[in-house]
Amino acid sequence: MHELFQKRHSIRRYKDVAVEEKKLKEILAVANSAPSAGNLKAREILVVKRKKIREMLAQAALRQDFVAVAPIVLVFCAVPERSAKEYKQRGRELYALQDATIAASFAWLQAVDLGLAACWVGAFKENEVRQILGLDKSLRPIVLLPIGYAK
Ligand SMILES: Cc1cc2nc3c(=O)[nH]c(=O)nc-3n(C[C@H](O)[C@H](O)[C@H](O)COP(=O)(O)O)c2cc1C
Repeated sequence: MHELFQKRHSIRRYKDVAVEEKKLKEILAVANSAPSAGNLKAREILVVKRKKIREMLAQAALRQDFVAVAPIVLVFCAVPERSAKEYKQRGRELYALQDATIAASFAWLQAVDLGLAACWVGAFKENEVRQILGLDKSLRPIVLLPIGYAK
């Protein structure tokens, strides 16, 4: 773990190399194993591969072009009402966001452990991301996590 933490950096340049499906599955499995308030897993993860969509996300992320260069972008969304059913306002406003962010943290570390690189992208226009992905209104996008091989 110590080595892994030391290896993790925000990487914003990626090779034009695909991420293996097996590695993607491992990353998602680890993200889905992350703890959540009351084990309600008040978060959903979208996997974006299509270049056009990645480009649109990069635009929505205030033109952070590297978002489109990475072959995969994971979009971590909170599901506030899922947590609110049990925890009311605290679930809606806090736990669901924490559920999403801890899953993103686990995914990032697992990606690094598999020799990949990523960067947490929190600066984006939420409504644009919602529109681009056609998100249901129950989902709130919290983190974009572009993943690829570091250049
Ligand atoms: C909540 C949050 C939002 C962030 N948003 C962005 C972002 O929009 N774009 C970006 O390039 N980096 C973003 N970062 C990455 C930070 O800039 C980075 O983690 C920090 O500079 C430390 O560098 P390191 O990750 O290499 O240790 C974000 C990090 C966090 C935790």
